[in-house]
Amino acid sequence: MKKVLVTGSAGFIGSHLCEHLLEQGYHVTGIDNFDPFYRKEYKIYNHNVNLGHERYTFFEVDLKDKDLLAPAFSDVGVVIHLAGKAGVRPSIKDPKSYIDNNISVTQNILDVMKDAGIRKMLFASSSSVYGNNPDTPWSESLDVNNPISPYAFTKKACELQNHTYHHLYGMDILNLRFFTVFGPRQRPDLAIHKFIKMMYRGEPIPMFGDGSTSRDYTYVKDTVTGITGALEYIIENDNVFDTVNLGHNHPVKLIDLINAIGKATGKIPVIERKPMQPGDVNITYADIRKAKKMFGYDPKTPLEEGLKAFVEWFNENPGMLEMD
Ligand SMILES: NC(=O)c1ccc[n+]([C@@H]2O[C@H](COP(=O)([O-])OP(=O)(O)OC[C@H]3O[C@@H](n4cnc5c(N)ncnc54)[C@H](O)[C@@H]3O)[C@@H](O)[C@H]2O)c1
Repeated sequence: MKKVLVTGSAGFIGSHLCEHLLEQGYHVTGIDNFDPFYRKEYKIYNHNVNLGHERYTFFEVDLKDKDLLAPAFSDVGVVIHLAGKAGVRPSIKDPKSYIDNNISVTQNILDVMKDAGIRKMLFASSSSVYGNNPDTPWSESLDVNNPISPYAFTKKACELQNHTYHHLYGMDILNLRFFTVFGPRQRPDLAIHKFIKMMYRGEPIPMFGDGSTSRDYTYVKDTVTGITGALEYIIENDNVFDTVNLGHNHPVKLIDLINAIGKATGKIPVIERKPMQPGDVNITYADIRKAKKMFGYDPKTPLEEGLKAFVEWFNENPGMLEMD
């Protein structure tokens, strides 16, 4: 089997995915540029989990620079493209950077794949493409032409780029829509990581809205198992283009999340109420029947168990508390 190339390998999901693929016996190439979206120290920490493994090769390269990419794509069978700028709120402040790192980077990857004769790709899309659609749980057949943040429109644009290259060049591609992934090594800008840090620091937790907004939190090991299922599917099948949700199908209200974090940390949360933020959605809720049918996706980790794993990891790494 040729190598699996994981872009964004020093990121939260990418580092877990590389770790899992190596455990499964794959040869893995990672690419990351340690983008300063959040502190480099976190990414180095993630990266070190896989560095030194005999079946792991790493290229520190910026995917925006197409001319530098060919060596990393040599002898690759499947590309799992996770690299990009994530986050809804920061995308409103800096949409251009989302266009550069999501849309332009995806274009570079598709072109380098075409030149290298690589025919298979999995792409990290997002639940954000569903916007504020009230028709929950969200199935992949829903219209997603009404994005409400630059982040969402860039992910939708990437899905369309992928379809174009499937049509023109016969590439097999699955767009995987992730839903608020959490667990050890979670990005520090995301609610669970941020809130746990604040709780330990004795700071109040900002609650945007009345606490009724809900998210379909998905434990990272479940997401990674889903990606691996999709990988096996795309290796075994030809003429594939599809879009698949990888969520949990169990939305949790913000107020319930805060209370669950209180239990996991053994602290009593102090809540600071704030208005809803532009671009925020009321609920995310995945219909996951398609992933189950295609490759047996079956996320099992309850929120409490995932929070416990995060808190254990956080406590084992006391330096995390000091870092923003
Ligand atoms: N974490 C979630 O809840 C979630 C939900 C939906 C979708 N996603 C998507 O999944 C993917 C991974 O998310 P994550 O949470 O692991 O994010 P992350 O920010 O931790 O990882 C992304 C990685 O991509 C790298 N990167 C960014 N631009 C790059 C470039 N130009 N060249 C090379 N490397 C670059 C970053 O340095 C980073 O290490 C992202 O595309 C994100 O949009 C994540």
